[in-house]
Amino acid sequence: MTKVAIYDSGVGGLSIFQEIVATNQSLRSIFVSDNQAYPYGTKPEAELLRRVLNVSDAICDQYQPDVLVLACNTASTVCLPKLRQRLSLPVVGVVPAIKPAASVSQTKNIGLLATPATVHRAYTDELIADFASHCTVTKVGSKELVDMAEAKLAGQAPDMALLKNILQPFIDQPGLDTLVLACTHFPLLKQEIAAVLSQSGVNATLIDSGSAIASRVLALVSEAGKQTQLVQQNQQTEYTSNAGHIAAFTDKASLNDDIQKNVLNMGFTNIEALSV
Ligand code: DGL
Repeated sequence: MTKVAIYDSGVGGLSIFQEIVATNQSLRSIFVSDNQAYPYGTKPEAELLRRVLNVSDAICDQYQPDVLVLACNTASTVCLPKLRQRLSLPVVGVVPAIKPAASVSQTKNIGLLATPATVHRAYTDELIADFASHCTVTKVGSKELVDMAEAKLAGQAPDMALLKNILQPFIDQPGLDTLVLACTHFPLLKQEIAAVLSQSGVNATLIDSGSAIASRVLALVSEAGKQTQLVQQNQQTEYTSNAGHIAAFTDKASLNDDIQKNVLNMGFTNIEALSV
């Protein structure tokens, strides 16, 4: 069976996991949260690159995936070229969905909601210059919103007043009709974000990269599946666990009961530790 590893700094990768398993029923997924080094969105680029390369090596050693999904905009916008150079398997990155947003927006007035690092990346500026130069783009980088998504999975209700405060620059932008959720944590707060915007009179479509990533993985998996079958004819491949979907945390000891319960409720059969 084809194995896909989905890697993020925290629980954001679960939004990508959900999209991938919804479109690809027949694969085994390993979700990896680098919660030991969370958050990524405030780290200097060189430090982040070192960490992402180390964690990716550990994932490949422990699980031998056929495809690696770097389910993190903050990491993808800076680490993808080096990661692809280093690994021999296909690596799928998640980057801000500026292009689709610019094309669906009627008013050509869009918002970008990401981590502080992603909104300042040269890569993000290039995406805007290449695909949204005809649009007004309002950018908000928020670490608090990433923490809010983590807290929600740990059983804490989102603070709607704080959320409104974070979203205020979009509310203050007349004519904004499309908002890019450019951090994989944010689809986990989609309902709350939509509620605050609509209560504030903003009628905006929320766009993220999840379904595009799932389609890309589906295409790669069918290719990788063929190759895996060939390898398995010659050698019995070993796997560290017999479980179905696995969730691995770099700091498993710090997980509270709610996170473990919520993760298991999402369809994982095992929660493991990944040592980096
Ligand atoms: N989920 C990550 C992203 O897509 C970032 C979270 C963090 O700051 O660690 O950018």
